[in-house]
Amino acid sequence: MQLSTRHLLGIKDLTQEDISLILSTAEQFKEVLQRPVKKVPSLRDVTIVNLFYENSTRTRFSFELAEKRLSADTINFAASTSSAAKGETLLDTVRNILSMKVDMVVMRHSASGAPHFLSQHVPAAIINAGDGINEHPTQALLDAFSIKESTGGLEGKKIAIIGDIMHSRVAQSNVYLLNKMGAKVTVCGPPTLIPKYAAEAWGVEVNYNLKETLEWCDVANVLRIQLERQNQPLFSSLREYRISYGINRQLLDSLQKEIVIMHPGPINRGVELDSDVADSKQAIILQQVENGVAVRMAVLYLLSGRN
Ligand code: NCD
Repeated sequence: MQLSTRHLLGIKDLTQEDISLILSTAEQFKEVLQRPVKKVPSLRDVTIVNLFYENSTRTRFSFELAEKRLSADTINFAASTSSAAKGETLLDTVRNILSMKVDMVVMRHSASGAPHFLSQHVPAAIINAGDGINEHPTQALLDAFSIKESTGGLEGKKIAIIGDIMHSRVAQSNVYLLNKMGAKVTVCGPPTLIPKYAAEAWGVEVNYNLKETLEWCDVANVLRIQLERQNQPLFSSLREYRISYGINRQLLDSLQKEIVIMHPGPINRGVELDSDVADSKQAIILQQVENGVAVRMAVLYLLSGRN
């Protein structure tokens, strides 16, 4: 089986079959990762550059580990220590790297659309590891994998996405994916952090009330406020955000059921999530990180043309 696309630029471009193929391939790779020798030769002689123009811990290490577990050769690029700081353009940097016979590019960039631009100008397969406020497709895929693993499936599941919806590429990719796979989605947060077009353009419910949203959902995917992407104040203070939208133990105990708590990281403890919730059994935050490696192995493998 093949994906319908050469690049992974966003969930928007994937079909339901593509998503199912990535998730089922990831299940096989997850099994590989439980073995004493967590490595397969699938991408031997494939060279991959990890091009990170924006900070990252989880996503960068997760891609790098996925590449190593597949036996690919990898090189890493961080904008702050590269010639980008000397004024080189993105396209020049990538053309230079590709001339050293690099086959695939994993890239994170603060400009929405940067990987799409690149995919039109270079021959290599491009994988979007987060572009501005647009998409973060591998995060949505690993979130979907983790939801399936903890609740048994996606279809008909009630998923709440809570927080800074407006500036979150994780939110947008999750909405696209969950809609395509038949889950029900509610976005929740302060009105100033939810785009006015959300209900109509995304086909999701919007609820500004956290307690009601938690009472409705099976899974709550909690997001960080993306202060670095806000150039004007959109809420009064982090303290007030916490009072209205922070998830704490008391609130969860007041629900009639136990819901699953997710977070893509990095967590701002004591703002969107209290520590006793983040570290509790109902939070699957570290399972998400674990699953990320298997999901990225699946994406790299399926886009490499080696399958
Ligand atoms: C997210 C990102 O960078 O978009 N983190 C991640 O990749 N796991 C979310 C965030 O920065 O809040």
